[in-house]
Amino acid sequence: MQITSQLSSQLEQLRQQHRYRTLTQRQSSQVQFGNNDYLGLSMHPRVKAAYAEGIHQFGASSGASPLVSGYQAPHAYLREQLAQWLGREDALLFSSGFAANQCVMQALASIYQRIVLDKLSHASLIDGVRHFEHWKRFRHNDVAHAAQLLVPNEANLLVTESVFSMDGDSAPLTELANLQADLWVDDAHGIGVVGDDGRGAAEQLSAMQAPLLTITFGKGLGVMGAAIVGSSLLIDYLTNHAREFIYSTAMPAAQALAVSAAVDVVASSEGAVLRQRLNDTIQYFRECCRLNGLPIGDNHHAIQTLIVGDDAKAVAWGQALQTHGIHCGVIRPPTVPQGSARLRMTIAATHSNAQIDNLVAALVATRESLERAEIT
Ligand SMILES: Cc1ncc(COP(=O)(O)O)c(C=O)c1O
Repeated sequence: MQITSQLSSQLEQLRQQHRYRTLTQRQSSQVQFGNNDYLGLSMHPRVKAAYAEGIHQFGASSGASPLVSGYQAPHAYLREQLAQWLGREDALLFSSGFAANQCVMQALASIYQRIVLDKLSHASLIDGVRHFEHWKRFRHNDVAHAAQLLVPNEANLLVTESVFSMDGDSAPLTELANLQADLWVDDAHGIGVVGDDGRGAAEQLSAMQAPLLTITFGKGLGVMGAAIVGSSLLIDYLTNHAREFIYSTAMPAAQALAVSAAVDVVASSEGAVLRQRLNDTIQYFRECCRLNGLPIGDNHHAIQTLIVGDDAKAVAWGQALQTHGIHCGVIRPPTVPQGSARLRMTIAATHSNAQIDNLVAALVATRESLERAEIT
C-alpha cells in the first residue's frame, strides 16, 4: 500500500496523545456501566420474542432499500405506531441514528438559509452540515447566543440534543422552541426514558414547537436503528432526498417488529415502573457519590460523568475500574472538548443497589490508588 507510512505516523500520533482507540470485547464477567440500554429492553422477553418471530416470518434481511422492495408490513406498522405515539404526522425509518442525522441534515441544508447548532451536538449532525457554509454553533445551552446567530426574516433551522450524549444534561427545549426558527431535537437519549410516558421531547414540545425529531432505537428502546419524525410533507421530502434512506438496505422487518415491541413496553405500565426504577437508581448513585465526595456532573439523567481532565488519567481510571470488574466509558477528545476527558457512566433500571455500591466503592478505591501513584 502506498500510504503505509502515513497511516502509521497518524496512529503513532494518537498513541502519543493517549487518544489511540482499540476494540475491547465486552466481558460478561464485568458489570456494564457503559451502554445505553437504560431500561434493559435489549434483554426483555417481549422484545426478544418479537425479534425471533420476525426472523422466523420475514427472514434475516429486508433484502433491498425501502424504495425498491425492502419496505414491508412491520416497517409500515412501526412508522404509524411512532407517529401516533409521538403525536406527529409521520416517521421515516433509518438503519442508525448516525445515518438519519447525517443525511437529513444534508438534505435540509440546501433548503434552510441558516443552520444553528448547539456546540456539543453529536458528530452525525456536524458531519451532515460541515460541507455547507451557512451554519454556526452556539455556546452550549446558551439560548441568547443561539438567538443572536439566527438571521431575521430567513429560513432558520435550530438544532439541539434533548439529553446531551457525553454530559447527560438537558437542553432548554421550551426556550429554544420560542426562537424564530424551526427546532430539530435529537432525542437519542430521551426517548423511552424521559417524561411521564417515556415520549421524551415529543411529550414536552408540540409538533409546532419542534417540527423535526430524531429518535434512536439503540438506546432506551434497546434495539437498533432510528426514525425522523415530523410532518407528512417533511417525510415526503426526505423520502425523495435523504440519500442513506434511498440508497441503503432497509432495516430487517424483524428489527422493526422488535422496536414495535419495545415501544409497547415503554408505553405500558411496565414502562412507567422501569422509568421509576431507573430514576430511583440514578438518585441512589448520585447520593452515594455525594457522600463519598466524588465530583460527578450536575444532572439527573442516566448519563453520569466524572470529568478527570487529562486524557492519560482518564485511561488510567478506566483501566483501574476494569480490575474491579466494572466497565464504563472512557471519553476523550475529539469526542469531548480538550482538557475534559471523562468517565461516562450510564445507569440502567436493571442495576441493583448492590451493583451501584460496588461502582462507587471502585471509584473511591481508584481515586485513592491514582492519588497515591501521583504522590510517589
Ligand atoms: C445524540 C446522538 N445522536 C445520534 C446518535 C447516533 O445514533 P446511532 O447509535 O443509532 O447511530 C448518537 C449515538 O451515540 C447520539 O448520542
